[in-house]
Amino acid sequence: MGFPVNRPRRLRKNESIRRLVRETNLTVDDLIYPIFIEDGENIKKEIPSMPDIYRWSLDRVDEELEEVVSLNLPAVLLFGIPSHKDEVGSDTWNEEGIIQRAIRHIKKNYPQLYVITDVCFCEYTSHGHCGVLHNHDVDNDLTLENTRKQVISHAKAGADMVAPSGMMDGVVKTIREALDSSGFKDVPIMAYSAKYASSYYGPFREAADSTPAFGDRRTYQMDPANRLEALREVKLDIEEGADIVMVKPALSYLDIIRDIKNNFNVPLAAYNVSGEYSMIKAAGKMGWIDEKKVMMETLTSIKRAGADIIITYFAKEVAKTLKNG
Ligand code: PBG
Ligand code: ZN
Repeated sequence: MGFPVNRPRRLRKNESIRRLVRETNLTVDDLIYPIFIEDGENIKKEIPSMPDIYRWSLDRVDEELEEVVSLNLPAVLLFGIPSHKDEVGSDTWNEEGIIQRAIRHIKKNYPQLYVITDVCFCEYTSHGHCGVLHNHDVDNDLTLENTRKQVISHAKAGADMVAPSGMMDGVVKTIREALDSSGFKDVPIMAYSAKYASSYYGPFREAADSTPAFGDRRTYQMDPANRLEALREVKLDIEEGADIVMVKPALSYLDIIRDIKNNFNVPLAAYNVSGEYSMIKAAGKMGWIDEKKVMMETLTSIKRAGADIIITYFAKEVAKTLKNG
């Protein structure tokens, strides 16, 4: 029984009825805001390819944190830029390392803000790869040994949750064991389960100073052409103890987000990565798109695809838009 009895336009007649039948609502509760913290003093340095996103030193970052808290954003994801890099990224487990100091600063001054740490090595290694090198490739199991030290030091500093992003095999199990045996049974793991070897990370590598000195990350991050492999990765991470799984990037991988949503019953995060942010910002600056509307449409599409949580550099702008229209 189609037309004229069925007229779908009836439910689109005005904003009131559209609100009633709307299937997806983006809220501030869905968002995690990434923050870059650089070792040093008096730093508030805009990242050229990411307008409105800065690297902050700890003595300046309150400006940013106060805004995050006042916008009622629930969580931040911390990335550190250390002053000291070496072959293995030892600053990642230094009690006085940049991230450890940042965690303590935030938990002391903004106890209600949920602090998630990125667990990886690429910003801390002299070669920019995500772990310990052996024969010009990242050695999986040696990297896991250092990951153990890194997560324990994050938890000791007060991190609420850890998020391993290096795509090492067995990393979730390793972290779960390390945390449990050190008195941190209640610290959850958000696993970057399906993280693709993506060119959309370009601006981030400039932001975090983490470009590999040689080669690329294709021996550890996933091939963008693969779909079923993402389901295998997620299954392994859940078996190993992941509390939340993630797809990254988000936009070119909305099908993967939906596949995971349909197949697993754990909270699902999606990372709206730097390149996705930069493209919208750039087109907005050119006057070619309505930046705010494209931002909202884009993030809504990620949630509609099945993400429960969205990590995005737009978090503050979305929170403002939801508040003020
Ligand atoms: C590093 C890491 C990357 C991102 C988060 N953690 C980039 C990479 O793998 O080179 C990307 C985030 C973004 O592009 O916004 N493990
Ligand atoms: Zn890395």
